[in-house]
Amino acid sequence: MNLTAEEQEIFDGKHGETLAKVMRTVVSYGDMFGAKRLVPLDKPVHLVTSFGVTMLKPLYDIMEELTESELKVKMPFTVDPRPFDNNLDNNFIESLLFRLVYGKQKKYEQQLFAVGLKDKKAFSCTCYMPEVGNVPEKGDIIAWAESSAVAYANSVIGARSNRTSAIIDLFCGILGKTPEFGLLTDEGRKADWIVIVETDTLPPAQILGSAIGIKVQEDVPYIKGLGKLLKNLSKAQINDYLKDLGAAAASNGAVGLFHVEGITPEAKESGQNLIKKEASEYVINDNEIRQIKNSYPILWKNKNSEPDLCFIGCPHLSLQQLEEWTNSLHNSLKQKGMKRLKIKTILTAAPDVIDKFKQNEKMYTRLKETGAFLSAACALMALTNPLYKKKKVITNSNKLRTYTTARYYNDSEILNLLTE
Ligand code: F3S
Repeated sequence: MNLTAEEQEIFDGKHGETLAKVMRTVVSYGDMFGAKRLVPLDKPVHLVTSFGVTMLKPLYDIMEELTESELKVKMPFTVDPRPFDNNLDNNFIESLLFRLVYGKQKKYEQQLFAVGLKDKKAFSCTCYMPEVGNVPEKGDIIAWAESSAVAYANSVIGARSNRTSAIIDLFCGILGKTPEFGLLTDEGRKADWIVIVETDTLPPAQILGSAIGIKVQEDVPYIKGLGKLLKNLSKAQINDYLKDLGAAAASNGAVGLFHVEGITPEAKESGQNLIKKEASEYVINDNEIRQIKNSYPILWKNKNSEPDLCFIGCPHLSLQQLEEWTNSLHNSLKQKGMKRLKIKTILTAAPDVIDKFKQNEKMYTRLKETGAFLSAACALMALTNPLYKKKKVITNSNKLRTYTTARYYNDSEILNLLTE
């Protein structure tokens, strides 16, 4: 990689040994991917490592060294959700286990603050929500690590981020620079696949994303035929749909960027010029959607067990989704003459989104009356609690389904199960 004189000085240790290690690590990382230079970051980094799990000793040692050397990021950053919070309605033993598994949480959060964490509420995988405020603009260079957030920033916003590795994200934030390769380049943003959606109605975002991820893996898809199915949705609803589609594609494959014809900013601007000549084709019809959903394994010992717990909000819900779920739950209970949800239900969203939601007293009361809980934790990390692992969990998140024993249902199925 070609370094500027200033970068070379840092690399050579003229600005301290720890900063040199940071630079050398980022340069080695860039070299591995064939990067030719470092480019400046336009917006803050977003870190994926939000959890103080006891066994991650090297992480705490790195953070300690950074703090002792008084190294900080150039712009205050955000980080993925905490692994648990008090709003999960844990019993005493569950709380105790969380504190054992994540025994370093408090110390690690202090370390995050020392290197430039934005504030106490900066814990969410949807840092790009306006309420949270780590919102890049089209064309901005960023270095994020959370896969669902990278897919959103690249695709829906048109910012430029690779799927940066954990800790490299922080190091890039300290340098204020990131290696230029892959999705940071015009060529790297071109589509390897044309995905043609031929379903009769709008497919669930989670299943469509899953189908795309399984097929294209880490490639870039250009999706046709979806625009007309999204035409009755508001701009905010389309963004939410693409958020969930991207998270599923990023977890069932490694998609970091997708274009949607006529919808996403680069597809609007450049249209089919974004498609590589040798691009392959993948047609998704109703049958394909059905087959993908039916292929999800059910990992419960007894497939007919009653669910114990329902998680909605992986990735974290937007304010609009939170309000939509509140109304759906409320209306469905009312219709069926029920007072409370049948299954313990946790809706997760960013702390700032939850605060905004609570300002609407009518809405907040309506949600509380259903018996649902509001948490800012990460559902996936919450399920690492050995006691949670034993529970029969249902979810509308394909990402959560992929990484845990949770069982996937579409939104309408979840609503029925909660209020039948
Ligand atoms: Fe977010 Fe945790 Fe799901 S980081 S995307 S809630 S796995």
